[in-house]
Amino acid sequence: MSVRRSVIIGTGSYLPQQVLTNADLAARIDTSDEWIQERTGIRRRHIAAAGEFTSDLGAEAARRALAAAGLTPNDIDLIVVATATPDQTFPAVATVIQHKLGMLHGVAFDVAAVCSGFLYALTVTDSLLQSGAHNRALVIGAETFSRLLDWEDRTTAVLFGDGAGAIVMEAQAQPGSTASDRGVLACRLHSDGRYNDLLHVDGGPGSTGTTGKLRMKGKEVFRHAVTNLSSVMGEVLEVASLTPADVAWVVPHQANLRILEATAKKLNLAPERVVVTVDSHANTSAASVPLALDVAVRDGRIQRGDLLLLEAMGGGFTWGAAAVRW
Ligand code: ACO
Repeated sequence: MSVRRSVIIGTGSYLPQQVLTNADLAARIDTSDEWIQERTGIRRRHIAAAGEFTSDLGAEAARRALAAAGLTPNDIDLIVVATATPDQTFPAVATVIQHKLGMLHGVAFDVAAVCSGFLYALTVTDSLLQSGAHNRALVIGAETFSRLLDWEDRTTAVLFGDGAGAIVMEAQAQPGSTASDRGVLACRLHSDGRYNDLLHVDGGPGSTGTTGKLRMKGKEVFRHAVTNLSSVMGEVLEVASLTPADVAWVVPHQANLRILEATAKKLNLAPERVVVTVDSHANTSAASVPLALDVAVRDGRIQRGDLLLLEAMGGGFTWGAAAVRW
C-alpha cells in the first residue's frame, strides 16, 4: 500500500554579501583568529547590510529553491519560516515572504524554536503534507542573528552569522518502505524549558519592550548539545528502523565544529560523512541546516537515494532530528 511522504524537490540559500572574518573581529574586541578557530572551527561569517531584513534573506533563498525545483510561487500552497529574528514582532516573516514572492494564495506562518527551528518547521510541514491539508511547501530558515548580539561580549559575538536556506517539499505517493522510499522517513522533536538561563535573549516585546541581546553559558550548552543531539539522532534512526551504517550524510546544525565531531563520534559516524559549513557561515541559527543542505546538494555530495540525518539543538532547550531519503 502506498504512503504519502514529503519529498524534498529543491533547495536554495542566500548569504549576505558582507563577510566578517575572525581578524576583523580581533580588531574590535579582545579575541584572536587562533582562539576562535581552535574552540569553534569558525573562520568567517556573513552579516546582513543595513536595510536588509530576515524576510529579504528568506525570500531570496526561497526563489533559489523554487528555481531548483522548476516551480513558481503559484505551485506552492504553504510557507513555514523558522526564525528567531523576525523583521517585526508581528506579522510573521512567512507572510512578509509570501508577499515578496507575489503569492496571493496559500498559508504562511512562523515557527519559533531558535537553532532547532528548521527541524520544527520541517516536522510541522511534514505533518501538514502527510495529512493532505497541503501539497507543496516552502520551508525556510532565515536569520539576522547579528542584530541580537552584544558586540562587546566576546563569548558570544564571535559565534554567529546571518543567512537563509530553503527547501521545497512536495507530497508524493511512495511505496511505503523506509528502506527505499524517498522523503521524510521519520522526525522527532524535544524541548525542556528548564534551561532558559543557559541560552536566551534578555529582552522581548512582552517583558522589557526591547529586543534584548543574546546571553549564553557556552560550556553548559555544549554539554547538553552533545548529549541531546546524539540521543535524538539515535531515536530517529530507531523509529525509521535504520542504523548509523545506513546514513550517507549528517546535515547538522552548525554551532561549533567540536560539537559536530563529538556528536558524530558518539554514534560511530565517520567525520567525513558530516556536512560542515560552520567554518564559513558560523552559527546562523535556524538557517544553518538548510544552508548546509543546499551547499552539499549543489556541490554534488548528496545524491539520489542517500539517507540524510538532519539534526539541531538550540535555545529552550529545543532539539530534534529527521531521517530523509534524498
Ligand atoms: N576570544 C578569546 N578568549 C575567549 C573568547 C574569545 N572570543 N571567549 C571566551 N574566551 C575566554 C574565556 O574568557 C575563558 O578565559 P578564562 O579561562 O581566563 O576564564 C577561556 O576563553 C575559555 O572559555 P570557555 O568558555 O571555557 O571556552 P570553551 O572551550 O567552553 O569554548 C564556546 C567556548 C566556544 C562558547 C563553547 O563553549 C561552545 O561552543 N559552546 C556551545 C555554545 C553554542 O554553540 N551555542 C549556540 C546555540 S546552541 C547550539 O547551537 C547548540
